Order: sequence, then structure tokens, then C-alpha cells
Amino acid sequence: MSAKTGTIKIGDKSVEMPVRSGTIGPDVVDIGKLYGATGAFTYDPGFLSTAACESKITYIDGDEGVLLHRGYAIEELAGQGDFLETCYLLLYGELPTAAQKSDFDYRVTRHTMVHDQMTRFYQGFRRDAHPMAVMVGAVGALAAFYHDSTDITDPTQRMIASMRMIAKMPTLAAMAYKYNVGQPFVYPKNDLDYASNFLRMCFAVPCEEYRINPVIARALDRIFILHADHEQNASTSTVRLAGSTGANPFACIAAGIAALWGPAHGGANEICLQMLAEIGTVDRIPQFIARAKDKNDPFKLMGFGHRVYKNFDPRAKIMHQTCHEVLKELGIKDDPLLDVAMELEKIALNDEYFIERKLYPNVDFYSGITLKAMGFPTSMFTVLFAVARTVGWIAQWKEMIEDPNQKIGRPRQLYTGSPRRDYLQPDKR
Ligand code: SDX
Repeated sequence: MSAKTGTIKIGDKSVEMPVRSGTIGPDVVDIGKLYGATGAFTYDPGFLSTAACESKITYIDGDEGVLLHRGYAIEELAGQGDFLETCYLLLYGELPTAAQKSDFDYRVTRHTMVHDQMTRFYQGFRRDAHPMAVMVGAVGALAAFYHDSTDITDPTQRMIASMRMIAKMPTLAAMAYKYNVGQPFVYPKNDLDYASNFLRMCFAVPCEEYRINPVIARALDRIFILHADHEQNASTSTVRLAGSTGANPFACIAAGIAALWGPAHGGANEICLQMLAEIGTVDRIPQFIARAKDKNDPFKLMGFGHRVYKNFDPRAKIMHQTCHEVLKELGIKDDPLLDVAMELEKIALNDEYFIERKLYPNVDFYSGITLKAMGFPTSMFTVLFAVARTVGWIAQWKEMIEDPNQKIGRPRQLYTGSPRRDYLQPDKR
């Protein structure tokens, strides 16, 4: 079968370009030769129609509401396995055998401590600093502590840096929370699983034993799985771009955390809960729906809409179930925020504005209610997102570094500024 091609005609110039097909999903037009052949760039500022890379890690079908990690459906990974199994799958490409899983758990667990000098690093922040600001600083600073895993050309150092990032993010996140609430840092314990260790580092106090609630730990582990990776989202694209310059992995992850913080991206879970609280009661929902539809009002229904999903976000459904599980386990019967969220979802899904724009609840819609019930302050919601997404960032960063065709990312532009003009002395301006 002859190779597929596409032709672009610009004025009297036309250029034929190869069309490549993936395993599943849309074809891509390889436009690498376009500028050389026609002198024109493509223009797609929000990357609405642009594939920035080739990847084998995650596949999303926005119309069908499908999310696969290395071919496995998110529903099965979240329902059958644990977060470190998903981490192994994202990093190595295959589900681990029992022996591989046990070795991986052992290796991650023994990287959970941070250099004790980090505790003094935190003292430099104000107590009321947003935990995401602390995380951007602390993760970027890891390069100052772990020089022996910053040579990106060395596969061994790349893997050590990867394990360190996955293992230390919960510790750094818990330290950011403890610093914010003025409680002493809690060290990780090697006999606890990933989610239980994180819960204990956040909520244990020296005055009494901390009892792990297995239902809550399992729910948090599942929430980590739901947030682990998501194709070429804004923060992952940031990590890939930073990594394409040869920057060390800690700096790249810090860049990803910074990008994730935005309210249009990972920051939405924090803003979504604030929005639900601002709505307050079901009878106030119509006025907020009206605001969301009003072009002159910048207000958006946080936790709704997605660049890729034009159907239900599969993660939102699992998040919704987990939300009810956690509220039930904690004996929270009538959470007014949940009542507002469920009524808001029902109204929005039957409103023409949302239907024609295919706006559905995304992963952030129910996560805030769940995390608040677990005892996390809203300022920690995006930090938890960053803890989970670190494995996705690292897996995508490794895939890019190990791509023999990898180049530095350097997009061009459409210039609409002033043409060349002569310099004028101040008295002539
Ligand atoms: C995440 O990319 C990822 O994969 C991200 C993520 C991941 O796991 O990494 O899934 C995590 O970031 C989830 C999204 C969290 N953000 C929010 O919940 C914030 C609220 N949502 C919107 O800001 C918006 O939906 C985006 C940013 C998520 C997507 O924006 P797009 O794809 O650029 O779509 P758009 O802004 O062009 O919207 C299309 C239309 C517009 O109306 P028109 O100009 O066509 O009339 O839909 C409207 C928008 O105004 N619209 C909304 C809306 N989202 C889009 N209107 C009201 N409320 C909303 N939430």
C-alpha cells in the first residue's frame, strides 16, 4: 500500500508531505519540510490541531471518553491495581510481575526520605506561602542536593532521578503542608504503602499514634492513579520543552509544577471547590450558570470542559464514585457542596450551551469535595495533583530524552509588530 501523503498549496507553490498513522487515533501530517519548501509556517497557538511528539505512553479518545496507559484502560488500572503498579507501567511499558512490583515498591520506598538540609530550605518560606509556591521551589532545589543524578545522558542517573522524584514528591508535599500549618515534619515509614505513608506524613502528630484508615488510603491511591498521566497536557508539554534543552530532571519537573498551578489546568480543583462554596446552595446555581454563559463575564464553570474530552472524562466518573465512598466511610451524610455539585452537573448537562459545546465534568469536578473530606485544605489540592502527575511527567521526559530524533523545541511565530524603523534621538521622538 503506497505511503499516505497530504499536499499543501500556497500560491504557486505546493508541497507533498508524508501522512503518518499511529497504532490508534488520528493520523498526523509531517510538516517538517513545509517552511523549507514554501517559506510559510503553520499557525496553531493553542495546539488545537498539533501533535508535538510521538509517544507510546498514554492514549486519549476525547469523543469516546477513553483513557489508556500503555494500552490498559484507566478503569481497570484504577479498579484492579495500585498507584505504584501504574507508575511501573508508565515508566517501563509493561505491567510488573509480582517480583518486579515488589522490587519496585522496595526501591521507591527507600528513596522517600529527603536530604535533611531540605528542612532548613523550607524555613526560608513564609508560613502562609501557598504550598504550590513551596513545591516549585523545593523540587527545583533538589538539583542542588542530588548532583549524582543530573547527568541526563546517563541512563542509570536518569532512572535514579526518576525514582527519587516519584518517591520524594509525597515527602516534600507533606512537608509543605506541615510547614503551612506550623506542625513538625513527619518522616516517611518504610512499612507503609505509598498513599498511607503520605496520609501519615500529612496528618500524624507527635502526641499520638496515627491510625491509617484503609478505605481512605485506598481512595487516595486511586486518586493518584487517576491523575498519573494524561498525554500532552499543558504541564507535560512544559516538562518536554524544558527537557528538550537538556535541563536536569528536577528543573523540568519544577517547570511542570509551575504550569500545573494554573486555574485552567491543575489549579482548577482548588478553584472548583471555592466556586462550589461561593454558589453555596442549590437555589443559587442558575445565576452562576448564567454567568458561565455570559461572554462578558470571565467566570467559567470550574471542573467543566476539556480540550480533548468532548464526552465524559472517564476519570470524573471514577472520581465521583470515590467521592461517595469517602463521604460514606467518614460518615459525612449531607455535604452541601456535594448537593450543589450534583445539581450543578445535572443542570449543566441539560443546558443547550453546555451540550452544544460538549462541556462535561472533568477530573477536577469531584476531586475537591473528596480531598476536603479527607482533611486536606484547598491549597493542597493541586499539590496532590502534582504528586500523582510526577510519574507521568518523568515517563514522558524519559521517552523524549531516549528518542534518537529528539531536538530542542523551538517554535516560530507570526510576526505582526513594527517593520524596520530608524533609531531617533530623544529630542526627535
Ligand atoms: C485539567 O489537558 C489535560 O489533559 C488537562 C487535564 C490533565 O489531566 O492534565 O485533564 C487536567 O486541566 C482538566 C481541566 C481543568 N480546567 C477546568 O476545569 C477549568 C474550566 N475549564 C475551561 O477553562 C476549559 O474548558 C478548558 C481550559 C479546560 C479547555 O479549554 P479549551 O479547550 O481551550 O476550550 P475553549 O476555552 O475554547 O472553550 C470552548 C467553548 C468556549 O465558548 P465559545 O467561545 O465557543 O462560545 O466552551 C466554553 C468557552 O467559553 N467553555 C466554558 C467552559 N469551558 C469552555 N464555558 C463555561 N464554563 C467552562 N468551564
